[in-house]
Amino acid sequence: PAPGWAIDADVVVVGSGVAGLTAALRCRAEGLRTVVVTKALLDDGSTRWAQGGIAAALGEGDTPEQHLGDTLVAGAGLCDGEAVRTLVTEGPDAVRRLIATGARFDTDGAGGIALTREGGHHRRRIAHAGGDATGAEISRALVTAIRDGAVRVIEHALVLDLLTDAEGRTAGITLHVMGEGQHDGVGAVHAPAVVLATGGMGQVFSATTNPPVSTGDGVALALRAGAEVSDLEFVQFHPTVLWLGPDSEGQQPLVSEAVRGEGAHLVDASGTRFMVGQHELAELAPRDIVAKGIMRRMQEQGADHMFLDARHFGAEMWENRFPTILAACRAHGIDPVTEPIPVAPAAHYASGGVRTDLHGRTTVPGLYACGEVACTGVHGANRLASNSLLEGLVFAERIARTIAETHAHGPVPPAGTDGSPPVAAVADSRPGLAAGAPAEGGSRGPVPLLVPEARREIQRIMTNGAGVLRSAASLDDAADALEALHLSALHDAEEFDKAAEPGVESWEATNLLLVARVLVAAAHERTETRGCHWREDHPGRDDAGWRRHIVVRLTPDRR
Ligand code: SIN
Repeated sequence: PAPGWAIDADVVVVGSGVAGLTAALRCRAEGLRTVVVTKALLDDGSTRWAQGGIAAALGEGDTPEQHLGDTLVAGAGLCDGEAVRTLVTEGPDAVRRLIATGARFDTDGAGGIALTREGGHHRRRIAHAGGDATGAEISRALVTAIRDGAVRVIEHALVLDLLTDAEGRTAGITLHVMGEGQHDGVGAVHAPAVVLATGGMGQVFSATTNPPVSTGDGVALALRAGAEVSDLEFVQFHPTVLWLGPDSEGQQPLVSEAVRGEGAHLVDASGTRFMVGQHELAELAPRDIVAKGIMRRMQEQGADHMFLDARHFGAEMWENRFPTILAACRAHGIDPVTEPIPVAPAAHYASGGVRTDLHGRTTVPGLYACGEVACTGVHGANRLASNSLLEGLVFAERIARTIAETHAHGPVPPAGTDGSPPVAAVADSRPGLAAGAPAEGGSRGPVPLLVPEARREIQRIMTNGAGVLRSAASLDDAADALEALHLSALHDAEEFDKAAEPGVESWEATNLLLVARVLVAAAHERTETRGCHWREDHPGRDDAGWRRHIVVRLTPDRR
């Protein structure tokens, strides 16, 4: 639909988690006219739900080099070394600047920042707030700063597409605002710089720790805009998500890795600690190893969950250190003080996303990405616990500096490959990798919108075919079912003029379908097991064949 209203800015930030709000605050501090658009309310994204904390080499004896080592090990051979070095060396100061912005972290007895451990970390390195409410505190601090500053905010605004000029440079976005007032309906924000910070895509699966808004909107927009997207097959399944029954769907309560970091044990129904002997760090092995350990035990025993036993913490520690988790468990009739917590893996984090260089630049000039929507190269095949909030901070600051320089010295050229992950496979407009309607004159034609009910169908297909355990057969089934959904939407739109009514839920379902199709195609192509991508039919890691990335770019006729 044609925009009914338009505003101008120097930069528009799409999304309002740690990455988006940090980028907006720093852009504003650089003197840029900054607009934040967000799909729901400012604090409705994933950041608010982060529990464990933010990893940085802040503790005595810790160094960025050690943090780098742990990150590379977790990333299973696919991290970009320069990107990780940037993250770990700039991380500690970025956390200090977050504190200066107003975030209050828990302190130790001596007044320093209290640090905990999580999977894959050889040291106590995770700063936390409110015990296990780190994301909520970071969100509170950033939202307060945004509200106090001169950043314009448009809530209830679903981003639709990127606007580009005749040279293919970013010129802004179109968006649909659902609300009353001056900016309602479909409009545009014109700006030469757009920062995607839309978070993840956990809602592509039936059970996820992600909130309902995490529907892959940024990756879908980037694909439609012709940007490169990388590593989508690497979906991280968090090992310990509160198990609420075999049929539970949607956002599920997380039981932070920090609970294991403080000494909780993973046990089966007989009370046996099954991670001991599987890895030198046992329950604190990197996340993919723990998730696989749990899945394997579940398969062996025909169980649909395992248990996390932290009864030995006692009531006082539970209440002081993990109040959020304690409340969530008790709300579901489980008391971790007196009984083990039932847990199972659930979709948690997209390690891949829109491919960027070290300055957050995507392959479309003027389009930037940071936070979970981005693939900066720091996570490789498996993100190290608590590196995500840090990545959002560090790369948001870099993006703000880059945009400010662009405005001072004229347009920068498109992103080069400096600092970007090595590209070994570019799948370009291959069957099964595209959705949407042909592009026309730099902006796409009408996309066949899905009806909102398609969301559950997509989730069911993805959970069955492309979840923790994958095989060529399961991925073929998923690809066929997704293709059928796409064709049926196309058919309804073209033959019967029966496209779904435009609205957030139909656009979300449409975005979910596009990212699901690309994810399945990438997972099918990667015929090995690496990091959080687990192929039952290819159980080994294949460094000779697959130490490379799957990068997807859709050609105009496939967007
Ligand atoms: C957790 O608290 O376990 C989540 C940490 C993360 O996903 O990085």
